[in-house]
Amino acid sequence: MAVVKPVLLRSLNRALRNLGGEKSPVIAGHKLLYRCNLECKMCPFWRREDEELLGLPDEIRVMEALARAGVSFLGFEGGEPLLRRDVGAILKEAHARFHTSLVTNGWLLEQRLSEVAPHLDLLFVSLDGIGETHDRLRGIPRSYERAVSGMRASRAEVPTVISHTVTRDNVDQAERVVELAERLDVGVTVQIAYDYRTADAMSPKPEQLRPVIERLRDLRKSGAPLLESVDYFDAILGSWYGEKPWRCKPWLTINVDPSGRIVLPCYVLQEYQGSLPVWDVDVRTLWNSFNWAPYESCNKCALACYLEPSLFRWTDFASLRDRVLDASVNYLRRTARSSSRSPASGLIQIGAAAE
Ligand SMILES: C[S@@+](CC[C@H](N)C(=O)[O-])C[C@H]1O[C@@H](n2cnc3c(N)ncnc32)[C@H](O)[C@@H]1O
Ligand code: SF4
Ligand code: SF4
Repeated sequence: MAVVKPVLLRSLNRALRNLGGEKSPVIAGHKLLYRCNLECKMCPFWRREDEELLGLPDEIRVMEALARAGVSFLGFEGGEPLLRRDVGAILKEAHARFHTSLVTNGWLLEQRLSEVAPHLDLLFVSLDGIGETHDRLRGIPRSYERAVSGMRASRAEVPTVISHTVTRDNVDQAERVVELAERLDVGVTVQIAYDYRTADAMSPKPEQLRPVIERLRDLRKSGAPLLESVDYFDAILGSWYGEKPWRCKPWLTINVDPSGRIVLPCYVLQEYQGSLPVWDVDVRTLWNSFNWAPYESCNKCALACYLEPSLFRWTDFASLRDRVLDASVNYLRRTARSSSRSPASGLIQIGAAAE
C-alpha cells in the first residue's frame, strides 16, 4: 500500500491543475542505458553509445523531479535494463513513489527476477513471434526459449505482459502470440514498428497491417488478454486507413534518457534534447511553454504509451467505464489480493490518471 497515497494525491493535484488548463505529464519512460545484449534489426537504441550512467543517488533525483512534475507511472526501459547491476535498488526507490513497470527482452529474467519482481506493478517481456521467428528477429538463438521460461517464472511473482512488436517480417504472428499469452496466463500488448532513421526500416506495409489490426480488435472484443482498448485499434484504423486522425497528447508522457535529460516532444521524434538533467529543469514551466501544437496531428506512430492516454476523455461514458470504473474495481481487487494481481489493471489506470 506504500505507493497508493503519494500517487493518489499527485493524481488529484494534477487533475486540479489540469482543470485550470495546465499541461502536466502522467507517465514517465526512463531509459536506464542504451547498451543491450541483443541487436534487433528494427531497434535504434543498442546502436547508441552510452555516456556515463546515473548512479542511484542521481536516479533518485530523477524520481523526485518526476514526482514534483505530477508523474504517477514510471516505466523503465533501455537498451536492456536487466543489464544494470543496480536495477533492483533503483526499482525499490521507484516503487515507493510510483506505479512501476519495466520492459525486458527476457534473456536475464530468470536470473534477476527476485531482485526486480517485488518492486514492479507490471513486467513487460518482448516477444516478436513464436520460436524461430522471434530468434531470427532478435538475432540470437534461444532468445525465445529464455523469454518464455522467464515468463513462466515471473507470472507468479508479478503481473506479466508480453510486448509484441509487429514488423513486416512477423505480421503473421500476432494472433499466435495472443494465443500464447492465453496459454501462459499472462497479458499481451501490441506495438507497431516505427521506422526510426537509425534502424532498419521494418514497419509493416499498410495492406499487411490492416487485417492484423482488425483481427486484434475482434480478439480484444471477445475477451483476449490484450491491454489495448478497442478504441486504440479503432484509432489506428480511423487514422491510417480513414479520414479520422487521433489527437496526440505527447505531453502526457515525459521521457528521460540514460543521462537524466528530457527528450521532447516524444521518444519517437526526439526533436529536442535538454542539456540539463531533469532535476535542474522546471518541468511545469517547460511543459506549459513548449509548442506542442504541431504534434497534435502527427499520428506517425501508434505506440500505446502515447496513443492510449491521448484517447482518454472524461466526457466519453464508454471510456469512463472501461478505464475508470473497471480499473478501480480491478485495482481494489488487486490491492486486496496482492498475490493474484490482474495483468491488465496497471495499464487501465494510465487512462484513469490521464484526465
Ligand atoms: C527498445 S526495447 C527496450 C527494452 C528491452 N530491451 C526489450 O527489448 O524489451 C522496448 C520495446 O521497444 C520495441 N521496439 C524496438 N524497436 C521498435 C520500433 N522500431 N518500433 C516500435 N517498437 C520497437 C521492442 O520490441 C520492445 O518491446
Ligand atoms: S529491442 Fe530491446 S532487445 Fe532488441 S536491441 Fe532494442 S533494446 Fe535490445
Ligand atoms: S504520434 Fe507523433 S507526436 Fe505522437 S507520440 Fe507518435 S511520433 Fe510522437
